[in-house]
Amino acid sequence: MQRIVVLISGRGSNLQSIAHQAAAEQWPARVEAVISHRADAAGLGWAAGQGIPTGVVDHRAHATREGFEQALSAAIDAHRPDWVVLAGFMRILGEEFVRRYAGRLLNIHPSLLPAFPGLHTHQRALESGCTLAGATVHFVTPRLDHGPIVAQAVVPVRAADTAASLSARVLAAEHKLYPMALRWAVQGELIIDGQRVVHRDGAPQQLFCTEP
Ligand code: GRF
Repeated sequence: MQRIVVLISGRGSNLQSIAHQAAAEQWPARVEAVISHRADAAGLGWAAGQGIPTGVVDHRAHATREGFEQALSAAIDAHRPDWVVLAGFMRILGEEFVRRYAGRLLNIHPSLLPAFPGLHTHQRALESGCTLAGATVHFVTPRLDHGPIVAQAVVPVRAADTAASLSARVLAAEHKLYPMALRWAVQGELIIDGQRVVHRDGAPQQLFCTEP
């Protein structure tokens, strides 16, 4: 069994979709631990209820980002992860941390990267007049919301959309996209080729989600 450590900052709905799918599809991997920098992250309670070990490394307890990231790495490494999965983890991670987990560190971002890295993606997509939005799963590099793209999900932008309604549609797509991409990763189906990731068997690395 490969070991997945998931990092969260809040609700943890992507965490839940990953843990459910891993069990339902009998992946050769399972979520071994969930770690947050916030003790009040709701996803920690969900994980504890599932019997998944949880941990908190409070960034405010560390004077420097390096100090925080060393403590975070120690908490992660205690679970001997094969994969470190950022699922709504809202701290920017430094170069040393990212290099430590190179090739086994994944993130999901709620936009069609390279458009709209950073915050307020849905509002920015609406203001830009985008007619399509979506989410991206990518390997993490030291640059924020950047790195070889594993898969993307596309959703339509509707005329009446607000940032909240668009966010809900994208989130529903994320819940399909992240488990699909992570399953490929744990099954050894991904080949990193420079800045690109290709699926070994040529599976389409995209989802088109028109509902709701
Ligand atoms: C998701 O939209 C994710 O893409 C973004 O933060 C949100 C986290 O949601 N980075 P959840 O905690 O997984 O419910």
